[in-house]
Amino acid sequence: MTRRLILDTDTAQDDCVALLVALLDSRASLEAITMVAGNVGFDRQVHNAFLTLAATGHLGEVPVHLGCERPLVREWVSAENVHGDGVGGMSIDLGDCGPEAEHGVDALIRIVNDNPGEIDIVAIGPLTNVAMAAVKDADFAKNVRSLVIMGGSNNGRGNITAAAEFNFYVDPEAAATVFAAGFDITVVPWAPLTLNDAVFGADRLEQIATIDTPLARFFMKVCAATLEFDEAVGIPGTTHPDSLSVAVLLDPELVIAAADYNVQIETGSELTRGYSAMSWGVHDLEPNARVIEAVDGQAFFDLICSILSTEVSPQRAIAGLQ
Ligand code: BDR
Ligand code: CA
Repeated sequence: MTRRLILDTDTAQDDCVALLVALLDSRASLEAITMVAGNVGFDRQVHNAFLTLAATGHLGEVPVHLGCERPLVREWVSAENVHGDGVGGMSIDLGDCGPEAEHGVDALIRIVNDNPGEIDIVAIGPLTNVAMAAVKDADFAKNVRSLVIMGGSNNGRGNITAAAEFNFYVDPEAAATVFAAGFDITVVPWAPLTLNDAVFGADRLEQIATIDTPLARFFMKVCAATLEFDEAVGIPGTTHPDSLSVAVLLDPELVIAAADYNVQIETGSELTRGYSAMSWGVHDLEPNARVIEAVDGQAFFDLICSILSTEVSPQRAIAGLQ
């Protein structure tokens, strides 16, 4: 079945891989890209999104809308220490290509409300745009077919602090708003799911390096800085929670274990800012999300390899892609 989806993204590293999947998997129809403040500088993220579109030959086919350039109430926090510029130094001349005039939040509301029950949103950055859309339009949450969120940890460790995963840490108020808004939510958490099932270690990276396509080289470039960071903090490979979020939407059979949870986000404490309390059904709390607990990591890796094997016709010369 084809999924009509919008990707809400802070495009750097695995966000680029998620975009490759959304653009190239035949089960996906990518209706729009909405940009949100997160991983790296906002303009750089926008460039990275266009760069990824150009690398796949889809530049000009999918509208890119600029969304919120900062979190709802807090200062933006960068992950440039993790991702560098997010694309390993690659760049393109965009020429006359640019974003749409319509704001990302308005695009989300328009596309969803024009197609009630038809559009899935995969949110792989801080939840600022999605929260804004839910607050601005009372019909938005119920008209979204499903919302896949990359964020939080399932009572596991964080990555930006001991308690918090980056996307929820950057805009905890937005995350809290979204979990209370009535969406049909699926969560792809950082820990333990990503760390167990979506890390590509040396063997897998070697396999990707042997795929002799521009997209495989593109993958190795966008993941290079993150790999260095991950190894420095004891994670044995590159991390792929964003591309996994798109993958589980397109191929639910990847999911081995999932359960209904009540998810609430900490906004009051500085120590545990953005912590996701995921209650697994024994605390008399109404479930508001399905949390993925385990996936078939090998099948996910195989899916990424098949995407990277796709023959494409890049539309621009990509500087830095050897
Ligand atoms: C999340 O933060 C970003 O660095 C990644 O793109 C992912 O969305 C992981 O915490
Ligand atoms: Ca992301």
